[in-house]
Formats: sequence, structure tokens, C-alpha cells
Amino acid sequence: MKETMVLDRIDEILASRTYDEFRRRLADSDCPRCALCESRTHIVVSRGNPKAKIMVIGEAPGEKEDLQAKAFVGRAGQVFDQIMASIGLDTNRDMYITNIVKCRPPGNRAPQKAEAEACRPFLEKQLQIIRPKVIVLLGATALRYIAPGIKSFSMKEKAGTLFDIPAFPGAKFMVFYHPAAVFYNSTLRTAMWEHAKILKQFLHDVSSR
Ligand code: URA
Repeated sequence: MKETMVLDRIDEILASRTYDEFRRRLADSDCPRCALCESRTHIVVSRGNPKAKIMVIGEAPGEKEDLQAKAFVGRAGQVFDQIMASIGLDTNRDMYITNIVKCRPPGNRAPQKAEAEACRPFLEKQLQIIRPKVIVLLGATALRYIAPGIKSFSMKEKAGTLFDIPAFPGAKFMVFYHPAAVFYNSTLRTAMWEHAKILKQFLHDVSSR
């Protein structure tokens, strides 16, 4: 009986016809699809503008996000906001920000495969509603889960490049270092500012076509 109720609720979230409906239903759902439900405070659906053309996908909510029910509002989010501001992007106005999993993993560990798979229908629904033209992935974990077909890659080579993923036609992808990784690493930080300039140039090129 409980199982049926859960399935009905998930179906209802995935059947949402508007973004607001989806966000509200998921946030209020008490989703039990993976073990992260046991330790979370809130389901963190997103932050930013659902009408934006750029979607940002991080790994998982951290402590601040879990408490505030908003993606990337902690220190990593502030670093990302700053870097995007340097290329003229306001993350709340110009971007829609979410994560591979919507609930905080204990101790901020990376999400596990089963957790990412359990949450995947929600991410797919977000992609279907938002229909982004550009998808920015923050960190190797986001890339690994979005594109399991890309078997092995080095962030040194992949970060800052623009690429396609056949499963998501119509969107250009770019992977950045995770902003939490650049706190204490000035080499990665410098690289991330350079990668932001590549994104800016790409956005400029597509807007003038
Ligand atoms: N790190 C992430 O990957 N996502 C968040 O929302 C916060 C920190």
C-alpha cells in the first residue's frame, strides 16, 4: 500500500505540466526513493531562473543548501556566483541551477550511483521543462552521471571545453572544475576564470549568429 502511494506521488511529480507545479510537488513530496531521505532536512530542487537558457548541474546539496532548500547558496555557490559575475552573468537571473541528487549526502560525500539513478527521473523532467541551450556541469561527478558513456576522462583536458552529448541533442555542454575544489587551489581557480571566458565567448558567438 505504502509502495503504491509512493509510486503515485512520483508519477504525479513527473506528470507536472508547469515548472512551478513540478518544483512544488517535488519539494513537498517527502521523496523516499533513496537512503538520502533519512538524513536530509529539505529536498533541494534548484535556484535561479527556470526560463534561463543556461542550466547548471552540480553534484549534491551541502549543509547550507539542505537548510535553506536552495542549490548552491553556500561557499561553493558564492565562488561560482563571483566567477559568473566576472563574465556578466547573474546566476539567479541568467541561470537555472540544480544538482544530480536533490538531497544532501551525509558528510557531503559524493552521491552514489544508486542515489543518482533514483534521482535521475527528476533531473530528466527538469531538462524537459527548462530545455536549456547550454548545460554547465560543475565537477567530474556531474559529468560522470550525466554522460555515463564518457568512460574515462581527465578534468585537466575536459574542463573548459565545449562538447555535445548525443543523449541530449540541442544543448551544448561545458564542464567546469567544481567551485569547492578551487577554494584552496590557485591553479584550478585561475583555470576556472579562464574557462568562464570561453563560456562568455561561446554565448557571444551564438547570440550574434
Ligand atoms: N555543491 C554542489 O555540488 N551543489 C550544491 O548545491 C552545493 C554545493
